[in-house]
Amino acid sequence: MPPEVLAQAAAEMLDWHGSGMGVMEMSHRGRDFVSIYEQAEADLRELLAVPAQFKILFMQGGGLAENAIVPLNLAGRRTGAGSTGPIDVVVTGSWSQKSFKEAARYGQINLVASNEADGHTRLPEPASWRLSPDAAYVHVCSNETVHGVEFHELPDLRALGCDAPLVIDFSSHAASRPVDWSRVGLAFGGAQKNLGPAGLTLVVVREDLLGHALPACPSAFDYKNVAEAGSMFNTPPTYAIYMAGLVFQWLKRQGGIAAIEALNRAKAALLYEAIDSSSLYLNRVATDCRSRMNVPFFLRDEQLNGSFLAGAQGRGLLQLKGHKSVGGMRASLYNAMPLAGVQALVDYMREFEKNTR
Ligand SMILES: Cc1ncc(COP(=O)(O)O)c(C=O)c1O
Repeated sequence: MPPEVLAQAAAEMLDWHGSGMGVMEMSHRGRDFVSIYEQAEADLRELLAVPAQFKILFMQGGGLAENAIVPLNLAGRRTGAGSTGPIDVVVTGSWSQKSFKEAARYGQINLVASNEADGHTRLPEPASWRLSPDAAYVHVCSNETVHGVEFHELPDLRALGCDAPLVIDFSSHAASRPVDWSRVGLAFGGAQKNLGPAGLTLVVVREDLLGHALPACPSAFDYKNVAEAGSMFNTPPTYAIYMAGLVFQWLKRQGGIAAIEALNRAKAALLYEAIDSSSLYLNRVATDCRSRMNVPFFLRDEQLNGSFLAGAQGRGLLQLKGHKSVGGMRASLYNAMPLAGVQALVDYMREFEKNTR
């Protein structure tokens, strides 16, 4: 979270804009909260240039719940009457692997392509994908948080002869760069990386994909219900929406998505350059699909992991331990991380390497 946003939230916590209430105490249908909600939605629409034919939904459940909510809403899109069409999934790392397994509970599943044999270090070329002719939708994780693999360009399904909607899990790089909505049917993401605190899930969905939910879909997760009720079918995560709204205003003050993307490129370039030019650190991801948000790296001598982490901690460089499934280190360079933070990490890495020679 940007410190500025936390300070503003702290200042407004007990009394929001002289209303005599904190945001947590407001009715979600009251005038004050509705104004917070509408501003947040309008700011996000502007920032991400979301076209008018897409609905913005503020939901709960997180990214993992969407792995079920998406098939519950879309798997019957073509077939209707409660039956399901094939669900195409591209596996590029642990998050899309989870999506694949979860979607398989709701319909016939088709593994379109996988980079598992490469250890999730490169993206399978879209031209090689085995897409189903009648797919209900095609799922990709556009940024694999654990393996550090990112689609720098979203696949153009139409150019591949496929008219199914593309569903992207953009949990860990939402609002870090622009989205080409002409290639997307639905995007979802947990808020807790770039958008705000945990508890809010963002769904951006094209209108023609509403109204196809399977009979078993919980009413509160039927996108049509949520869209028609302006995300107030049930009580939305009000405080998280308010915090996300403050983040959106902060993003606008930074110059919007183009400015934050330029900064994210600079941050990632600085760190990857430090890794590639060293003889101690190593990143195994192919250079053209390296994530700008999540940079996993390894020490060639794994015995040094403990002292590397302890030294980092001593300098206030926190949460660098890699995900348990891959080991090593991981630096997450989300929007709120300043360039100076990445520079501090790079300085420490160089010093640590020098001291271990
Ligand atoms: C790409 C991606 N998808 C899904 C999830 C799961 O999100 P949640 O914990 O909000 O369910 C995460 C969490 O890190 C993620 O990075």
